[in-house]
Amino acid sequence: MSSYVFMKLLETRAGRYDLGMSLLSLGRISGIYRAVAARVPEGANVIEVGCGTGGVTGRLLARGCTVTGVDRSASMLKVAERKLSSAIEADQLRLRVLDLIQLDREFADASFDCVVCCLVLSELTRAERRYVLDEFCRLVRPGGLVVLADEVAPRSRARRLRYRLTRTPMAALTYALTQTTTSHTGDLSQALAERDLEQIEHEAAQGDSFQIASGRKSACHLQPQA
Ligand SMILES: C[S@@+](CC[C@H](N)C(=O)[O-])C[C@H]1O[C@@H](n2cnc3c(N)ncnc32)[C@H](O)[C@@H]1O
Repeated sequence: MSSYVFMKLLETRAGRYDLGMSLLSLGRISGIYRAVAARVPEGANVIEVGCGTGGVTGRLLARGCTVTGVDRSASMLKVAERKLSSAIEADQLRLRVLDLIQLDREFADASFDCVVCCLVLSELTRAERRYVLDEFCRLVRPGGLVVLADEVAPRSRARRLRYRLTRTPMAALTYALTQTTTSHTGDLSQALAERDLEQIEHEAAQGDSFQIASGRKSACHLQPQA
């Protein structure tokens, strides 16, 4: 869905993000949030990176997960906090303002059963993506899961061309208004495989320009010596 490039605009008005995403995706975003959360085992201890207004977070909580949601945007987290206040009171959800680059100093190795990251990688530079993907593998315990969902370039040449033709003017407009943009990520299942994750599963959504992928860290993965 090339129109996801507009999500940078929506993030500048956190109070309207949910409605805006629903319109941009023609109502399909909630199905995506559900599909992402469905990858996570019920009751898991999860870190959701770039949780924003809590679209996926709410679905994880409904699966009985305990969630630590981190995001650098205090205004996005404020919306999540309002929506999910009962889970915060019940100690099922912790929200923290945090930039991704702080993950390594905030959380110890293997702290979580599962790392979830939806629609964030496309906002990062290549170097940031490499760093956070390595971090995700560090944060998850042996036998745990990394679940990614994001915009990817369609596989077929014709679709890729059409995607580029529609996306480029939207990206230019977004850049003019926010001085930031997003770019589709490479194949997510490949990124997981390159990090030695196993049992990789992926599904395409919204044509083939959106991917949900998960991979499991080997149960006998050795942690580095302290
Ligand atoms: C498009 S929103 C996605 C939010 C949510 N995951 C969803 O699917 O609706 C991207 C989120 O990533 C956050 N984000 C982007 N770069 C970040 C960074 N370097 N550190 C922490 N959060 C970041 C933004 O603040 C925003 O809330």
